[in-house]
Amino acid sequence: MDQVKYPIFVTNFKTYESATGVKALELARLHQKVGDELGVHFAVAPQVTDIWMIASQVTIPVFAHHFDAACAGACTGSVLPESLAQAGADGSLLNHAEKRIPFPTIIESVTRAGQVGFYTLVCAQDLEEAKQIAKLKPSAVAIEPPELIGGDVSVSKANPDIIKDAVAQIDVPVIVGAGIKTPEDVDIALQLGAKGVLVASGVTRAEDPEKVLRAFGEVLKKHQKAE
Ligand code: G3P
Repeated sequence: MDQVKYPIFVTNFKTYESATGVKALELARLHQKVGDELGVHFAVAPQVTDIWMIASQVTIPVFAHHFDAACAGACTGSVLPESLAQAGADGSLLNHAEKRIPFPTIIESVTRAGQVGFYTLVCAQDLEEAKQIAKLKPSAVAIEPPELIGGDVSVSKANPDIIKDAVAQIDVPVIVGAGIKTPEDVDIALQLGAKGVLVASGVTRAEDPEKVLRAFGEVLKKHQKAE
């Protein structure tokens, strides 16, 4: 896989039908194509069942939605970072608003990921939580105000201060998400110092995903040049 580079645009496929199974593969290939053509960094976070198929067909980073810091052996139902890595995942989201885990589990999971060289993008609902998580030194923190997730008003417009404050107060890369739908939303986030964005419905529910990825990619390119 390509190394995780910034600024990055991560599409969380969640459980959208448009981003499941064969459609997930098509969407991931589209990210690869547009990213390569524009020379920008896209990554995808498909469902766990689609990781192997996707990771064997693309070189952009592939992240899981979640993993368990469980034992190898008698831990039925758990998904280990080592197994995800063997399936081709490069890292994982953790503590997403739709898959919250207790803080002690975040500690254990980030430690475990560090031991196996797994990239961790740990989500937080607000600045305070983001600061606590950042102390654990995950690869990056993703701030997503839950009330904006899936809506049409972006974190960039509704709460630019959370981005500014996080960037000023957190010493790991800050990624932001929730409600990001337009190139302007991405532009504002990156201007405020975010190292990337985490987006779902803006891509998975788009009528023409290629068109929106190109538009988002142009913004990444502008910021890449400026860095
Ligand atoms: O992980 C991405 C996410 O929760 C934001 O979702 O649909 O608001 O882009 P959405």
